[in-house]
Amino acid sequence: MVKKKACVFISGKGTNLINLIRKSRDYNFPISINLVISNNNNAPGIIYAKKNNIPFLIINTKFRNYEYKILRELKRKRISIICLAGYMKIISRNFIKKFGKVIINIHPSLLPKFKGLNTFSRILQNKEKKTGCTVHYVNEKLDGGNIILKKKFFVNPRDNENELKLKTQKLEYLAFPEAIIRIYRYH
Ligand code: GRF
Repeated sequence: MVKKKACVFISGKGTNLINLIRKSRDYNFPISINLVISNNNNAPGIIYAKKNNIPFLIINTKFRNYEYKILRELKRKRISIICLAGYMKIISRNFIKKFGKVIINIHPSLLPKFKGLNTFSRILQNKEKKTGCTVHYVNEKLDGGNIILKKKFFVNPRDNENELKLKTQKLEYLAFPEAIIRIYRYH
């Protein structure tokens, strides 16, 4: 199978990145991870990419034209899908247009509920019965693109933020790969 070349954007721990790298080693998984981009020099995910010989690029978002630098690299590496996995920067409308290919994101709530940051504390405050994660296409609206899939679980009234996060991330490790398989199902 000819795999699509993917780039994963991260800012932090990169556990979803690590999960995707592992999955991408399966012969039948539709993508290979050919580039990792981080706006954070110290993101642990970068150490993992280094160890696994995956090319990475650290970007300084204080520079005005940093998105152009990214676009250049994506083109050079013939990337056809971007997976945002805990990337804490907003991607501009111009970037989305110029890239012109698939961009997906994973979000730790059942969208359209709880867009944006601090999802777990808001979910607890709201006494939600169910929560989970969502994989969606990225458009210019924050966490607002078409949904590819969601995975849910029931909130235990005794759950704290950390427990919610652990349970949500466990589902993310299933949801992200599954969404990618779904995107390329008929290709
Ligand atoms: C994930 O929970 C994802 O939903 C959110 O950022 C988190 C990234 O975690 N967008 P990690 O860096 O993959 O561990």
